[in-house]
Amino acid sequence: MRNITEHNITRAVIERFAGCSDARLRQVMGSLVTHLHDFVREVALTEAEWAQAIGFLTATGQACTDQRQEFILLSDTLGVSMLVTALNQRHPLGATEATVLGPFHVEGVAEAAQGADLAQGAPGEPLFAEVQVLGLDGRPVAEAEADVWQADAAGLYDVQRPELGGAHRARGRLRTDAQGWLRFRSVLPTAYPVPTDGPVGQMLRATGRHAWRPAHLHLRVSAPGFETLVTHLFREPDPWLDSDAVFGVRSSLVVRFERHEAGTAPDGTAMAGPFHVLRHRLVLAPAAQGSP
Ligand code: BEZ
Ligand code: FE
Repeated sequence: MRNITEHNITRAVIERFAGCSDARLRQVMGSLVTHLHDFVREVALTEAEWAQAIGFLTATGQACTDQRQEFILLSDTLGVSMLVTALNQRHPLGATEATVLGPFHVEGVAEAAQGADLAQGAPGEPLFAEVQVLGLDGRPVAEAEADVWQADAAGLYDVQRPELGGAHRARGRLRTDAQGWLRFRSVLPTAYPVPTDGPVGQMLRATGRHAWRPAHLHLRVSAPGFETLVTHLFREPDPWLDSDAVFGVRSSLVVRFERHEAGTAPDGTAMAGPFHVLRHRLVLAPAAQGSP
């Protein structure tokens, strides 16, 4: 096809995918080109803006390392991650809602014992968490595997602290007991800004947006026969609950972390100062037909 114009170029590009034997790839690429071209037409993108966009995406790729995923952060702050989660994690009524995984999850953390202090020296007020994992029928899910991770009082994850040399803090992997309980000690999570020292930070500043996420604890829970749940428990009150920088808050995930004065903690520890207690139930959805 010659003499391509602004009017026929979209069709011309889509026709080039006609020989693609992967029907899903053909559908995705065709739709992507349609929407991308429509976007360029709708905003009448200038050449300078196009060059700026290429520069932005290049810088986003260059900001990625083994420890940092600026593209996921871009997806998060543009609401794409949460949209993909919402489309793919439509759990039945009564099951705990899912939210974004985020960039700070670490695979393969060593398993900790029930009741372990996951804080490992992380700064923050002590937290004692008791989370019970149930099925939709209300029966406890034993031997479920749970990854837990969170920011410390300074709003930093262990992976954002090079001084730790890769050691884990305020992070752990636990297994539920026979009654479905996960019990661990950690620190009170605090609100924190997503990283703003890269291109995503420039985008947030240029568009007058803040970078804050409300305080939360991340959980990923998996067990045979159930859908893997990736979620957060958000601590209320928090000024950022209604304007989370990554659009991840769901009302059902907002919980109270009870504050206690000095005294005996739930695990029997005598606490000389204030501490917090989180008690919550997570409900797993049964595995969809055909999933492992
Ligand atoms: C997080 O909660 O860890 C997170 C999620 C999305 C972007 C940045 C951080
Ligand atoms: Fe987080």
